[in-house]
Amino acid sequence: SVGSILILPGDGIGPEVMAQVRRIIDWYGEKRGLDFDVSEDLVGGAAYDKYGVPLADETMDKAQQVDAVLLGAVGGPQYDVLDFSLKPERGLLRLRKEMDLYSNLRPAQCFDALADFSSLKPEIISGLDIMIVRELTGGVYFGEPRGIFGEGDARYGINTQRYTVPEIERVARSAFELARKRDGRVCSMEKGNVMESGLLWREIVQKVHDEEYPDVELSHMYADAGGMQLVRAPKQFDVIVTDNLFGDLLSDVAAMLTGSLGMLPSASLGAPMENGRPKAMYEPVHGSAPDIAGQGKANPIACILSFSMALRYSFDLGTEADRLDAAIEKVLADGLRTADLLGQDGVQPVSTAEMGDAILA
Ligand code: NAI
Ligand code: MG
Repeated sequence: SVGSILILPGDGIGPEVMAQVRRIIDWYGEKRGLDFDVSEDLVGGAAYDKYGVPLADETMDKAQQVDAVLLGAVGGPQYDVLDFSLKPERGLLRLRKEMDLYSNLRPAQCFDALADFSSLKPEIISGLDIMIVRELTGGVYFGEPRGIFGEGDARYGINTQRYTVPEIERVARSAFELARKRDGRVCSMEKGNVMESGLLWREIVQKVHDEEYPDVELSHMYADAGGMQLVRAPKQFDVIVTDNLFGDLLSDVAAMLTGSLGMLPSASLGAPMENGRPKAMYEPVHGSAPDIAGQGKANPIACILSFSMALRYSFDLGTEADRLDAAIEKVLADGLRTADLLGQDGVQPVSTAEMGDAILA
């Protein structure tokens, strides 16, 4: 077997889009001789309904052992009344926390057939393929001290940006490893002009580069300038590595360079396991879309592209990932659109399964 995959379809449209990924995984076994060792389990509301918790301990154990977790989406209005600790999102957060997934990958990739979906000029984004690596477990969202202190008008709010050397080193390595599988370039973004944590960030990223990844091209940019460049000339970038806060903002900006929520994949990576592969979870950026769940309308491409990332970054099957990405590009160029991608009048949307059929074909 090529490796092991745990599939957690979750709630709402999660199982609908994941069903198309399963068909693609089967295709790889039948047509390309690439057999994955696949198991499936529950997360989110679906897990709560069966086990009374949004992620069972046995599921957590399995997730720790496989090469890649593929997750659909969690959540739904029927679970809004549950206690905080039982909410579907807690299942997702438990996976991220216990697997220690510190490196969040958000690609912005332009499919030319959808170039008119962007708010930018087609020539600025046509052929775009960049990857934002956001540090996910440290920084100002977690640093202590934090809180609102004092009384009345003298109250003040505090958050603390704090990064240790090992935290910076490990996310930097993750970015350099990715760059080696891509175009070989990393741009690190911080604000060392006004933040000491940014100065340390720049120093450590440079040190990891010089000592371990001299073959990768490294540049540095202040994050505000980086934001401007992302919108002005995004194709200058390959991999961008940045902290939790700046990464949150820059990855949302980058996502909208290319359009619909139904098209956006993501990956979260942790430390290398014994077999050298990183702990990994792949999931679409979108949620469970209760407004369209059960109607066969959901766009499966975000979830399929998440599997493509798994091929590339967990299983080192970059050529196969290219094959899958090309199939998606082809069906879009042929004019196939799920309802979320419809702009022009007169085009009939295809269903989730029809989109899956076309990509397989
Ligand atoms: P959402 O991403 O589920 O939906 C936002 C809008 O985009 C909806 O109109 C939906 O129909 C549309 N949409 C999303 N994915 C689509 C797809 N693949 N194809 C076509 N249209 C798509 O976000 P929303 O509505 O804020 O949240 C719904 C539920 O999902 C909530 O329970 C929320 O907590 C949960 N959620 C879960 C996430 C996850 O599992 N990672 C992330 C975001 C929200
Ligand atoms: Mg955000």
